[in-house]
Amino acid sequence: MSTILVTGGAGFLGSHIARELVELKHRVIVLDDLSGGFKDNVPKGVRFIACSVTDHKKIQKIFDRYNFDYVFHLAAYAAENLSCFIKRFNYTNNLIGSINLINESIKHKVQCFVFTSSIAVYGEQATPFTEDLTPRPVDSYGIAKYTVEQELKISKNLFNMNYIIFRPHNIYGENQNTGDKYRNVMGIFINQIMNNRPLSIFGDGTQTRQFSYIGDVAPVMARSVLDARFYNQIVNVGSDNFYTVNTIAEKILNCFGHNPGINHLQKRHEVYSAIASHQKLKELGFLQKETPLDEGIRRMVEWTKKVGIRKSKEFRNIELTEGLPESWR
Ligand SMILES: NC(=O)c1ccc[n+]([C@@H]2O[C@H](COP(=O)([O-])OP(=O)(O)OC[C@H]3O[C@@H](n4cnc5c(N)ncnc54)[C@H](O)[C@@H]3O)[C@@H](O)[C@H]2O)c1
Repeated sequence: MSTILVTGGAGFLGSHIARELVELKHRVIVLDDLSGGFKDNVPKGVRFIACSVTDHKKIQKIFDRYNFDYVFHLAAYAAENLSCFIKRFNYTNNLIGSINLINESIKHKVQCFVFTSSIAVYGEQATPFTEDLTPRPVDSYGIAKYTVEQELKISKNLFNMNYIIFRPHNIYGENQNTGDKYRNVMGIFINQIMNNRPLSIFGDGTQTRQFSYIGDVAPVMARSVLDARFYNQIVNVGSDNFYTVNTIAEKILNCFGHNPGINHLQKRHEVYSAIASHQKLKELGFLQKETPLDEGIRRMVEWTKKVGIRKSKEFRNIELTEGLPESWR
């Protein structure tokens, strides 16, 4: 049995990974400041600590106390498109918070640091994105993720701390925050339909994205630390299939008995086509399941109807308003 820290474990992806790790019989400590997560997401059988990764003094004490074997770092505010308007917050939370954990992990000889990066690091370049491409992030969120990746690489070289970097994209499913207007397109659409408001789509909705069901991604990530082939690798993780945002809207609407319509908003600054290759994951021997999109959406909608729309704390500290989409003001 290993002792494992999961930051962001009250959030969507983190709660599923924490649950997988408990099922694998590890001792799991979840650390989360509940800024975007929910206490009832935290799975049974874990120790929960309310703390921000930005509080380096507290983080130090937690590491001194638990002597973690592995760290899964998922805590972040993952509002990619908003990140350019909240730069200071983005870098404090997503970059400095990560550095606090890396420092303590080095000091405490953590065996492997698993970091959830994002395909946002690729930016706008030819698809499909393969892990060997030089990242060219086009937003502050992607820059923070890429910087943490580089810190992990130099920490391996200088301090021999192993890492695994996952680059997921648009994961959806149960436990997702459906109450944040700045992120999680499926959650936003479900929220709007349940509140009988038109679905807001930036631009004409032909931008393409891959969407992965949580039950296909979390087990791969949770098991990675036990498989040395993943060590010191960067791995894209998720579904190969891609869809337009219009198709996603249509499929979600099909799960409801009413249609509040679609409101096309002014196009925003975002990557048009974000498609990643998963060849490397396959070569590592991970035959990822692919839950059909309709089935995954059905499960997420059923779950949302059961628990209700999440009441998320509204993010209020916008630092720059120039160019901010009208609907975000
Ligand atoms: N969901 C996706 O599609 C996706 C895609 C690519 C990358 N990621 C990455 O995966 C990770 C998890 O994303 P998610 O979708 O589960 O988001 P989420 O918001 O559901 O989970 C993040 C959790 O981190 C917590 N958190 C945020 N800032 C914190 C801080 N300073 N200290 C402690 N806890 C803090 C939040 O309260 C939340 O519970 C993030 O790092 C995100 O960037 C997610």
